[in-house]
Amino acid sequence: MNTAFQKLVLASNNEGKRREFAQLLAPLAIDLVSQASLGVTEADEPYATFIENALAKARHTSRHTGLPALADDSGLCVDALNGAPGVLSARYAGEPKADARNNAHLIAQLQGVTDRRAYYVCVLVLTHHADDPAPLIACGEWRGEIIDMPRGANGFGYDPYFLLPDGRTAAEMAPEEKNAVSHRGIAARKLIAQLRECLPGYG
Ligand code: IMP
Repeated sequence: MNTAFQKLVLASNNEGKRREFAQLLAPLAIDLVSQASLGVTEADEPYATFIENALAKARHTSRHTGLPALADDSGLCVDALNGAPGVLSARYAGEPKADARNNAHLIAQLQGVTDRRAYYVCVLVLTHHADDPAPLIACGEWRGEIIDMPRGANGFGYDPYFLLPDGRTAAEMAPEEKNAVSHRGIAARKLIAQLRECLPGYG
């Protein structure tokens, strides 16, 4: 069993992501710092699965800082496309990565396809140190379907095309509302539950 820690490094240089996770982890009173503030550059994400990429990123950050690290990997998986774009979600239409081009590419791939079921995935990995044999792992999934015409101005990425069972797209939800039900929110809550269970010292 590992012991409680006060400082956790986020294995991403995205400040928006750090703020979002800091908010989600607020109940634990952990200080979430960005790897950029410690001079760590982003790791490669060469693998075909979210879990492998998240683990590689967390391990990289723990190795370079000597501190516990949290990494996430997320994306959209479309059933009829055999799970694509998957780990390539951010750059589905190639470099430079751009949401508008990714969305256009996705809709083109789905022309004539009637099965529009899809799900977002988020995998979180927390390594206590670089050689941690038992990192904490939490996964969240959020199901919907892909529509041809975008709706809504919130969110990012594929959200305007991601239709939920209640008839709204993810981009038509308020940010707090999305956090409460999204793949990222689900994974974050599972991770918090694991931290409370595994590490005595968290309230
Ligand atoms: P990453 O988690 O920064 O690696 O993001 C991967 C990519 O997956 C993003 O660039 C988006 O294209 C997509 N993605 C992940 N989560 C979401 C979401 O909540 N809404 C829309 N797109 C998402």
